[in-house]
Amino acid sequence: MCGIVGYVGRGSSRAFVMSGLEHLEYRGYDSAGFACIESASGKLLFAKAVGSLHSLVRKLDGSSIDGSVGVGHTRWATHGAATELNAHPHFSADKTISVVHNGIIENYGVLKQRLIQQGYSFSSETDTEVIAHLFDEVMQRMSGLEQVVQAVVEQLQGAFACVVLLERYPDYLVAIRRRSPLCIGLSSGQQFVASDAAAFAEHTRDVLFMPDSSYALVERAGVRLFSFAGLPLDYVPMRVDAQWLRSTKEGFEHFMLKEIYEQKRVLQETVAFCSTLSQDAWKQTGFSAEVVHDLRELFFVACGTSAHAAQIAAFFFEQIDQIRVSVELASEFRHRALFGFDHSVFVFLSQSGETADTLESLRAVHEAGLRTFSLVNVPQSTMARESDGHLLTQAKREVSVASTKSFTSQVALLYWLAFRIAYEKGLVPQDALAECQQDLLVLAEVFEEVMERYDSFIAHDWAPRYAAYEKFIFLGRQISYPLAREAALKLKEIAYCFVDCYQAGELKHGPIALVEPRVPVFLFSVLDEGVYRKLIGSAQEVKAREGRLVIFAFEGQDELIALADDVFIIPHVKPLLGPLAMTGIMQLCTYHIARVLGHSIDKPRNLAKSVTVE
Ligand code: AGP
Repeated sequence: MCGIVGYVGRGSSRAFVMSGLEHLEYRGYDSAGFACIESASGKLLFAKAVGSLHSLVRKLDGSSIDGSVGVGHTRWATHGAATELNAHPHFSADKTISVVHNGIIENYGVLKQRLIQQGYSFSSETDTEVIAHLFDEVMQRMSGLEQVVQAVVEQLQGAFACVVLLERYPDYLVAIRRRSPLCIGLSSGQQFVASDAAAFAEHTRDVLFMPDSSYALVERAGVRLFSFAGLPLDYVPMRVDAQWLRSTKEGFEHFMLKEIYEQKRVLQETVAFCSTLSQDAWKQTGFSAEVVHDLRELFFVACGTSAHAAQIAAFFFEQIDQIRVSVELASEFRHRALFGFDHSVFVFLSQSGETADTLESLRAVHEAGLRTFSLVNVPQSTMARESDGHLLTQAKREVSVASTKSFTSQVALLYWLAFRIAYEKGLVPQDALAECQQDLLVLAEVFEEVMERYDSFIAHDWAPRYAAYEKFIFLGRQISYPLAREAALKLKEIAYCFVDCYQAGELKHGPIALVEPRVPVFLFSVLDEGVYRKLIGSAQEVKAREGRLVIFAFEGQDELIALADDVFIIPHVKPLLGPLAMTGIMQLCTYHIARVLGHSIDKPRNLAKSVTVE
């Protein structure tokens, strides 16, 4: 959350920073700001604006604010409303020190009280402002940039990535990282700092991902890196693949729609990726024969859409591998006691690989001396780097805040992983791996076929009717329940509708009181005959109370289909892949409702793509 971009070089920092911020707007978009050291005067100049980056661009139009060292920020509010005073950068009282920040300074209350007692006054409600005043306070009594930065960072608690501009050191950007991502783009005669390498991708692909608890003094000529203890650190830049850095809409109206339509390819590429995993590559994941033979319980730890993918996959591991599975929401898992996990493996699932709740859970498990394995979509992410073993999902860069293709890529890869582990355990023959890959290829065809069949109907007939409702109930049972939860999350995120989601069997235990014609009920079927028959019962309960039923069913499920007011019928796939076969049209339904309502689909209100605060 929050996008940071800094530039030091010979050119116009404003041009580099503003273009970089455009690529990071997905990280937050409630206000934006820019600050630089003006080359001629050596003065710190700045501008801030509430709203999207565009408001800042308009404000800067016609102004001469620029310099060869500059920094910018797009904000996702944590402390204080989205106002110009709370927008970053924040300053020391004399406006000679400026700070942009992502994360949370957990002890800011204590620091603020102390600084107020020392005579400092605050003009914003943010935690960030304490950093600017702390720099000022330390610089009154110390000199030497390294010593100053060290004296500041040792007072800060929490997770933070910040970039500091100081009039006293006009050639430097100070980049500080603790548990929040920050990277440096290395180039000849100019350097870039950003929370995501996409910000400077067109200028350099040589990236220094700052290690945890480190700071960097970034000058035109190069970068010096230090630990918080002040020890100089060596570094080797990573060359980042260009496809990770930029993405375009390719003619689609929104990134979300483009990403929905990329899912057939994502499924095919998942299969291609699995085929290339040689025995050696497999060993690197950490699922060695000994680990697998000893494995009694898998813990999936994730948030949001990634947690829903894990909840579907739980059925794979239980049915294919006979392994008990627990799916833990990372934000809650953080508060659990870790003991007695001798035969367990922890799998952390994340598209971004940067989600703070999941990352901190991973670190806690690691600190407890347990093995950590992650499934991430971004190869250069912190989670990929910090896990004992990892596998890469094949979604490629996902821009829309609402996840679509990353969900599909996670479920598909976990389906294969369940078979791969079963093979390692001797539960299935080698042929089963080829068969599972074939199942996924059949799914890929079905996935796109149903979207093509229903897209126009959803856009022009179905969505305009359902956009008129404000409240919904979503029902699933067994493996379709996590899919119903994912559908509910999508509708909340982009259409801002109230959706209550239940296991269909729970309906009669209370929520049925809410059923009435103005609250449509969406029901997601399964390919398990016994569970299907129970779903018919739930659908009848809804019809008996004049509820409006939208049913996602499979071909041949005529008894259920007959109860629907609107129905989407999907060809058969392997039963465990049933939820994925429904995923594309479910996503199209939520997308088109949001579109009819005229919402900002790729950047929904209050959200950010990468949630890097706990
Ligand atoms: C999905 O549409 C959401 N934007 C959100 O729930 C997301 O899945 C969650 O924040 C986890 O992100 P991650 O997969 O990058 O860890």
